[in-house]
Amino acid sequence: MRQAGRYAPEYRALRQQHSILDLCHQPDLAAQVTLQPVERLGVDAAIVFADILLPFEPLGLGLSFAAGEGPHIAHPIRSPADVAALAPVEPATDLAYVLEAVRLARQALPPQVPLIGFAGAPFTLASYAIEGGASRTFTTTKRFMQAEPRAWHALLGRLADLVGRYLAAQAAAGAGALQLFDSWVGCLAPGDYREYVQPHSRRALELAAQGGVPIIHFGTDTAGLLEDFAAAGGDVIGVDWRIPLDQAWDRIGPDRALQGNLDPAALLAPRPTLEARVRDVLRRAGGRPGHIFNLGHGVLPETPVEALQAVVELVHGC
Ligand code: CP3
Repeated sequence: MRQAGRYAPEYRALRQQHSILDLCHQPDLAAQVTLQPVERLGVDAAIVFADILLPFEPLGLGLSFAAGEGPHIAHPIRSPADVAALAPVEPATDLAYVLEAVRLARQALPPQVPLIGFAGAPFTLASYAIEGGASRTFTTTKRFMQAEPRAWHALLGRLADLVGRYLAAQAAAGAGALQLFDSWVGCLAPGDYREYVQPHSRRALELAAQGGVPIIHFGTDTAGLLEDFAAAGGDVIGVDWRIPLDQAWDRIGPDRALQGNLDPAALLAPRPTLEARVRDVLRRAGGRPGHIFNLGHGVLPETPVEALQAVVELVHGC
């Protein structure tokens, strides 16, 4: 999950001097930020500092982050011709700076702390590419999907190939696990997920598996399509707090590991409430093998650092 960020004073200090894209583009800085949460929080794993939208730069879509407004895509995809005009991308060269950040972070981390590499899933990337930024309803994305199914499949096919090879390259550079983020997939009807998205996620996960390390397949709001989501692949399924962990596990089956699923807002609660919520997640995991305790989504910027430290201590003590 996103674990670096504005809640941490040392991250805010670096952001005073560098834009988020600067931090990503400079491998020594990216590696430095990657290590911050491990040192500050004592979490068991690091996730490389990068962003799911970085492949938009070599694709020719244009990427910027406006303060407080999230990502902005300068040339959004609105027609089949826009899909055909996407530039070819070679992760090993076009995203070499991320692979270098993986190498540097791997060298700098204690050997027992795994490093997670990541990428955006084809649907979530397509939603940003088509909307041009964040969206609540994904109207433009769904309209394109329904009106231009051939161009849609061409776009998701391109993205699946790109992120699958990019993930495998991160494993080759030293990532010990990979995470595919399908953050906004929960906006889809299950039938649409199966028809328009699942084959492309499956392809991305198959290509990523060539990296030879475990893969976490994460989505939010997936309660309505959990079986189909899990069927696309992943050694670990990441779920958010909108479904109780034990119910998710019963539906996914005992052969998969699960990651989750504390509500990030629980970290804003009074300490006894927070502790009860953490214990509830652990109780629902029930000591089954293969539970990765995590938040159900990224850390909120308002989160007190002490609350995160308390969660790590509590989970380690259980
Ligand atoms: O913890 C880490 O070190 C990992 C770094 C990481 C970032 N983005 C850096 C970042 C990771 C894992 C991501 C993934 C990402 N990026 C996702 C998937 C995970 C999720 O949260 O659903 C998505 C959807 C994005 C796209 C993105 N990047 C958005 C929507 C935003 C703006 C959000 C905001 O809070 O303003 C970003 C910017 C971004 N990328 C930040 C970080 C830490 C925000 C902090 C900042 O502005 O400096």
